[in-house]
Amino acid sequence: MTAFENKKVFVKTYGCQMNVYDSDRMADSLATKGYSQTDDMSEADLVILNTCHIREKAAEKVYSELGRIRKVKQEKAEAGKGDMKIGIAGCVAQAEGEEIMRRAPVVDMVVGPQAYHKLPDFLDRTDRGERVVETDFPVEDKFAALPNAKKEVTRKRGVSAFLTVQEGCDKFCTFCVVPYTRGAEVSRPVAQIVDEAKRLADAGVREVNLLGQNVNAYHGVGPDGADWGLGELLFHLAKIDGLDRLRYTTSHPRDMDDALMAAHRDLDCLMPYLHLPVQSGSDKILAAMNRQHSYDDYVRLIDRIRAVRPDIALSGDFIVGFPGETEADFEDTMRIVREVTYASAFSFKYSPRPGTPAADSDEQVAEAIKSERLYRLQALLAEQQKGFNASKVGTEMTVLLERKGREPGQLVGKSPWLQAVQVDAPEELIGEIVTVTIDSMGTNSLFGTMLAKQG
Ligand code: SAH
Ligand code: SF4
Ligand code: F3S
Repeated sequence: MTAFENKKVFVKTYGCQMNVYDSDRMADSLATKGYSQTDDMSEADLVILNTCHIREKAAEKVYSELGRIRKVKQEKAEAGKGDMKIGIAGCVAQAEGEEIMRRAPVVDMVVGPQAYHKLPDFLDRTDRGERVVETDFPVEDKFAALPNAKKEVTRKRGVSAFLTVQEGCDKFCTFCVVPYTRGAEVSRPVAQIVDEAKRLADAGVREVNLLGQNVNAYHGVGPDGADWGLGELLFHLAKIDGLDRLRYTTSHPRDMDDALMAAHRDLDCLMPYLHLPVQSGSDKILAAMNRQHSYDDYVRLIDRIRAVRPDIALSGDFIVGFPGETEADFEDTMRIVREVTYASAFSFKYSPRPGTPAADSDEQVAEAIKSERLYRLQALLAEQQKGFNASKVGTEMTVLLERKGREPGQLVGKSPWLQAVQVDAPEELIGEIVTVTIDSMGTNSLFGTMLAKQG
């Protein structure tokens, strides 16, 4: 057996959907060196933690997980099953590369998100006993250099796939690390995206979720040489045979342009769901966050979107306890939630991040106040989510069947509004879009009866 055969990589992913996408691309890159993915860390020759730096707790997890991995590595060596290399990727790698190397001698390589195409080369260097740190932003096109997954690998990953079209952020919200960890906004060329989308469709993928830290700021080179926006890209991707559902995330309220509105109005395959974070309802806090819009701008934008696509469901992100947030400011956040009504949402306590402007503010909000506000906000958001789910009971909807459910004979799929839907259906229907009547709802999903296959 050569060193190229039968190697196993275990990848653990934290953070956002882009990290999920990146983990697969890292695995694709390592496949060229004979690595296949495993779910069992103890048999891995290489362990990669794909990390998130967005909040303090997310970053802390890396060091506690490293302690655990070190033990597994030791046990594996003691059992005579060979060495285990350890790599740290993702946004903590980018932000704290050198510090990780100092604090954790067990780590063999630290690789920032812009260098994943160089993984095979880094692995060779670790074979020679080097410890590798790569956190530069290289000039070459990472995406063009990353190899494609084999068709069977793509199929195994499921019928709904992520596709990164844009990376990085130029917005510099004062609380956020992303512009530092992911760098400046870069959009992939349209042709490259179309090629990847066609490969996905060819492997049986029915739904593609276009990803970007600021996906609606997408401006990639089109086939005509001009810059295309996300709206134009969506109209183009809608023509690909087999791709019946398109989604995109995450958007910034400042970048919803007319072409994107038109896509929501005209494209049946663009799902009626929009994740559009507002963070706060207070104009004072929005300005301090550098969000570059007001309460009214946001609410008017939502009105315009609902006018073109009345059945659209909204989702958002919220931060409570941003420096200087008073009770009145927080009430404005509660007010905007009541006015907009969200189908689902993520909400967080403000977490000061080193190197971001808000972390240096001397108006930090006490932990107990943050907790209490988060509790009130989450209660309201949970009530709205329940109301949204309840509004679908008794209706008919299309569901993309994605995987087996917990009970035998049951499949789990997704509604157009990203709700999990459980139906009794045979396994052969995984990957099909079917019409379902919703009979009832549970805490995390809807239950339905299948009526017909859409094809
Ligand atoms: N690009 C997206 C957000 C990416 S980060 C946007 O502009 O909306 C995902 C979410 O994490 C943010 O929307 C925000 O709600 C939250 N977040 C980011 N930094 C944070 C911090 N320092 N403390 C608490 N929550 C934070
Ligand atoms: Fe972070 Fe703001 Fe950029 Fe979103 S828009 S990634 S919150 S800096
Ligand atoms: Fe986290 Fe980086 Fe995503 S900080 S949220 S993994 S862009």
